[in-house]
Amino acid sequence: RQKLTQYNTIDDAVDLLRKSHNIMVITGAGISTSLGIPDFRSKGTGFYDKVRGLGYETGEEVFDIDNFDGNPNIFYNLAGDILPDQQRFSPTHGFLRLLQDKSRLQTNYTQNIDNLERLAGIDEERLIQCHGSFATASCRKCHNEVPGEDIFGDIRAKRVARCKLCAENLAKQPMKKQKAFKLRKNDWEDSSDDDSAYDVPEAGVMKPDITFFGEQLPNNFFERFTDRDAKTVDLVVVIGTSLKVAPVSEMPNHLPHNVPHIFISREPIKHVTFDIQLLGDCDHVVYELCRRAGWALKHEMIPPN
Ligand code: OAD
Repeated sequence: RQKLTQYNTIDDAVDLLRKSHNIMVITGAGISTSLGIPDFRSKGTGFYDKVRGLGYETGEEVFDIDNFDGNPNIFYNLAGDILPDQQRFSPTHGFLRLLQDKSRLQTNYTQNIDNLERLAGIDEERLIQCHGSFATASCRKCHNEVPGEDIFGDIRAKRVARCKLCAENLAKQPMKKQKAFKLRKNDWEDSSDDDSAYDVPEAGVMKPDITFFGEQLPNNFFERFTDRDAKTVDLVVVIGTSLKVAPVSEMPNHLPHNVPHIFISREPIKHVTFDIQLLGDCDHVVYELCRRAGWALKHEMIPPN
């Protein structure tokens, strides 16, 4: 994509916000860091720097579905750090809500799993949680879905959560709870000391419904983007993301060329061309945009003038 040369300054960004009514906002972990929730890739403070070496070589491996199925302990040891424990949202979430209240927000595509957009009051039909969220959890074995809170205690205690429904069903079938002999080649040998000879039926492991690497994105992501938003949005604003994870990273390049692109984040990115890059703390940037637009962004984390 080539830059649209008529848009350059913060005042151009304000004009665009004021005249657009079908805005797509793509958000990432940077919009929640002011609440104390770490992002993933910031050097020193990001979740991935913290977890590197605590079981895996790279942080991303914590969110690899095969790794989770192979050994869920590592995820459960680390996930407490990104589990939101508060009922607060940031001024940037407040900005999204303001755009919605002014009938300008068409869709917020969030990569965040903290579910704080819902707390800020973003309508369910305008919110696409591209990487799922902690709002629900499901059993890897029987797919039983439960409210996310049901496993928060286990996550905080660094204990692998097991499926209660599986456990109930196993309890109803006492015979199946017994160790069952596996068919083995050397079945004439005494296998009584060999654990691999047995299969112990166990309740399935619960996994928060966040999208792991190797898993499908929610269906509504593709439907909403291709069938509707890619054809109708009049402005895209990308906030607080390194845009390193596909397919979200590819979205800005799949919009029509004449849709202006604004980027708000601490660090510039080079792999996508934006018309306007507003670099800095996103809470400050959105506050300044609102001030210039004459919109009141009210939030307890904005210092009074
Ligand atoms: P990243 O950590 O990759 O990027 C966050 C960006 O926000 C960084 O470039 C920071 O510089 C910037 N940032 C941090 N705090 C900020 C602030 N207060 N104001 C402005 N900018 C700030 O996080 P994401 O791009 O969201 O996947 O990561 C995308 C996906 O990668 C995540 O959804 C996660 C991860 O693997 C899953 O959880 C499945």
